[in-house]
Amino acid sequence: MSHLFKAFTLSLALSNPPLHPKPKRSEQRLSSEPLKVMISGAPASGKGTQCELIVQKGLKVNCSVSSEPLKVMISGAPASGKGTQCELIVQKFGLVHISTGDILRSEVSSGTEIGNKAKEFMNAGRLVPDEIVTAMVTSRLSREDAKERGWLLDGYPRSFSQAQSLEKLKIRPDVYIVLDVPDEILIDRCIGRRLDPLTGKIYHLKSFPPESEEIKARLVIRPDDTEEKVKSRLEIYKKNAEAISSSYLNIMNKLNGNRPKEEVFKEIESLLLQVSKDTVQTTKSGNFLQDSWKGIPTKLNNIPHSREIRKYFYTDVLEATRRAINDGRTRLKVEINIPELNPEMDVYRIGTLMELVRVIALSFADDGKRVKVCVQGSMGQGAQAGMPLQLAGTRQILEFMDWGDYGALETFVKIGSVGAKEVDEQDDMFIIVAPQNAVGNCIIDDLKAMTDAAGNRSVILVNPRLKDLPGSSGIMQTMGRDKRLEYAASFENCYFFRLLYYAGTQYPIMGALRMSFPYRYELYKRVDGLSGKEKYVILSTFPERPNIDEINDAFEGKPRNETKKASGIWGFLSGIL
Ligand code: AP5
Repeated sequence: MSHLFKAFTLSLALSNPPLHPKPKRSEQRLSSEPLKVMISGAPASGKGTQCELIVQKGLKVNCSVSSEPLKVMISGAPASGKGTQCELIVQKFGLVHISTGDILRSEVSSGTEIGNKAKEFMNAGRLVPDEIVTAMVTSRLSREDAKERGWLLDGYPRSFSQAQSLEKLKIRPDVYIVLDVPDEILIDRCIGRRLDPLTGKIYHLKSFPPESEEIKARLVIRPDDTEEKVKSRLEIYKKNAEAISSSYLNIMNKLNGNRPKEEVFKEIESLLLQVSKDTVQTTKSGNFLQDSWKGIPTKLNNIPHSREIRKYFYTDVLEATRRAINDGRTRLKVEINIPELNPEMDVYRIGTLMELVRVIALSFADDGKRVKVCVQGSMGQGAQAGMPLQLAGTRQILEFMDWGDYGALETFVKIGSVGAKEVDEQDDMFIIVAPQNAVGNCIIDDLKAMTDAAGNRSVILVNPRLKDLPGSSGIMQTMGRDKRLEYAASFENCYFFRLLYYAGTQYPIMGALRMSFPYRYELYKRVDGLSGKEKYVILSTFPERPNIDEINDAFEGKPRNETKKASGIWGFLSGIL
């Protein structure tokens, strides 16, 4: 594995005035200590450029750039769009594209020995013998450019024995992408495909016609693109697909390739950004300021959780929230449901929730933001007055908590309630602790009045429960269910974490679903290792929160988009996801 590591140190004085006029909480106790910044990201994500800008700004920094080249495998039936997506991936990520089909075609057209051997297999729509292709691929992968820039392997492995050859050489990708397209579409795509022999660009007579008559005139048809040969290639693909994917189940991402190519690429792009983030983190080159994620902690069923586990989740939530706010998002929610943070199971867990809220509030206060931490008070009047049990006493706990020795409480952090009148001009952001509807009382009116008053200032809901609860008074019906749901949905998740159990049980933990802004939902399976140590392995990722069927299918290793009723082993989740 090759590591690119570039480091430089700068010692320039701070020449620009701070952007925020308010004194920062950290400034109250820190002298002019130099900043230590590590910048990380995917290849071509702009690390070098940002370093230059930081330096130009005159900040006193230690700046290190670290990058781990990505290794990607892309697979799919003939004409599923592998070549098309590879073009876009290379443009964005700069990986070395290794397409066995392209290499073989070039050998054929140059009339080499390999080409002459391969030609008859290819023209018949059959696989070229393993020994030819495997030698070709391994020698290409060992070249310096592939080691330094990372690689994108397209069309290999195409059989179980090819996958085994790579395993033996310990060549493993970071991610295995499979493009899924229905058969009838594939045949149409092959028949309409045309290639530009000059640029290598792939066209389709209907969906991607050439840009000019000049290009059109030089386009060629692949000899294996007849209907009959495509059907034979498809058969061979199907026969091998399952055996190949069994080697890469834990890194497999099956994507729907039957969508516009830009849409497919958007999903691939976000997946690769996430994967490259993860590989950067696993390098040995140090701590990263922003993305210090280290995998899911174990022993989550032991309550109370250790201080380390609590800290892990606080940091995880905080980093995601900061990324979302830096990205300009203003209506956010955090949903985290480990046993220790679930007051529905035990009201005392509210203490852990308070600790989480304190970490978030103090961190933003450190940036000089004035944060209002809000807890809803009792709602309704007379017999309807009341508040959810979990929140009883919460405000007092918050007021008595230790907010540090630097006078954060009442200067940078204020405690308030929920409602428009809680919004003061000097407040920069609001954190609302577990806002929830109580039987007969709906918090949404007060919440909406508050967010209207907050305008474009950030409002973060921590573990909200905004679903309707039945009530005899009808108070909850005042605003209209649709509008209430629409309002609740206007908050986007910046963090989500939920443990998964077998249907009808709460033990043992079978997996976890995590989302940390701006990345995808990640589905993990908990496995017991040989040494008795448990670990979480990633099964799949999703652009949106997966439903119960998608979770079931991923656990059972089924392909995406297969319809299935919500009665599998994870049926329990249907009520809570
Ligand atoms: P190879 O070139 O790898 O062929 P393939 O796997 O059959 O894949 P294709 O190149 O046909 O399709 P693609 O998925 O790249 O789709 P494309 O982007 O072009 O291999 C050729 C032969 O070489 C094999 O049959 C075998 O003989 C031999 N070989 C290769 N590797 C081997 C190995 N490892 N072992 C043994 N033998 C090996 O798109 C297709 C069309 O659809 C285009 O017209 C495109 O414009 C259009 N299109 C793409 N995306 C979209 C979209 N989203 N919407 C609409 N149209 C789209």
